[in-house]
Amino acid sequence: MTVLLAIESSCDECCAAVVKDGREVLSNIVNSQIDIHKNFGGVVPEVASRNHITTIESVVDRAIDESGISIEEIEGVCVTNRPGLIGSLLVGVSYAKSLAYSLGVPLIGVNHLDGHVAANYLGNRELEPPFIALILSGGHSHFYYTRDYGEYERIGATRDDAIGEAFDKVARLLKLPYPGGPHVEKLAEKGKVSIDLPLVLLEDDSLDFSFSGIKSKVMQIMDKGYRPEDIAASFQNTCFEIVAKKIERACKMQNIKKVVIAGGVASNKVLRSRLRELPLEIIYPDISLCTDNAAMIGAAGYHLFKKKKYSDLSMNAFSYSSD
Ligand code: KG4
Ligand code: ZN
Repeated sequence: MTVLLAIESSCDECCAAVVKDGREVLSNIVNSQIDIHKNFGGVVPEVASRNHITTIESVVDRAIDESGISIEEIEGVCVTNRPGLIGSLLVGVSYAKSLAYSLGVPLIGVNHLDGHVAANYLGNRELEPPFIALILSGGHSHFYYTRDYGEYERIGATRDDAIGEAFDKVARLLKLPYPGGPHVEKLAEKGKVSIDLPLVLLEDDSLDFSFSGIKSKVMQIMDKGYRPEDIAASFQNTCFEIVAKKIERACKMQNIKKVVIAGGVASNKVLRSRLRELPLEIIYPDISLCTDNAAMIGAAGYHLFKKKKYSDLSMNAFSYSSD
């Protein structure tokens, strides 16, 4: 049995979790700062890092308390060290370093994107690579061909706005609170898919995405008398139509039928029902593990731990992902 503590502080959620064998969540604490940032319409990096500093200790303590294990049983400390807001990342990384050092256990730096994909290992105990992973979050709309645990190749990415970012921007146009995705989904429930928006699929062999044109089109029609709920429904539907078509294309090109969806947008129920229509095996994380959390970092870190891919105390944080 391997018990790892994981810390995630790459954006506006201060999170800690205890994960067993990369598959079982013993505790998962998420301290959201949404109430603080929503006053500004988005995350203010400096405010986020200051809040991480004041909350991280109690978040980690709670994760250990609620896991039912004692601190001496922790065999490694995993922490997100890229990509994300640099000040926020540094808080988690510094805390993880000192904890790993004082416990005398390995430190494991984890890529946040690996974490989102690994969230799928937590609810789906039988899931194993190879598969295609599609990350749909506030910062990414990326396709990866995942050969093995933690081994993957990027096969597509957004050329402009990430899908979650487009949801957040359209939400702003519709005067909905931050983060916009869940509010757009809710408003769309009352609307009709009735407005033509561009179905941007790019070149025939491209697995890239482009969402900024749809967002701009929404901006242009804002004062044309459409009902906000119809705009929300049409926007959401167009985005997910593109996602469905790209998934079909990716599976055909890579000759594989297993697709793992990850990231905050994966919690959208309309997306899930649209993808159910595809003749493919589509796997999602538990809704509570789609948005940022530390359990997913523990799940990804487990495979690095097993391969002894430890980090040392000189490990840095990076705003970008090298993959
Ligand atoms: O993965 P995540 O928590 O953070 C990043 O790593 O970016 O994703 C947050 C993004 C936000 O843009 C948010 O609006 C979007 O996911 N999101 C949703 C839904 N829930 C969260 N988008 C559409 N529908 C949802 N239900
Ligand atoms: Zn994320």
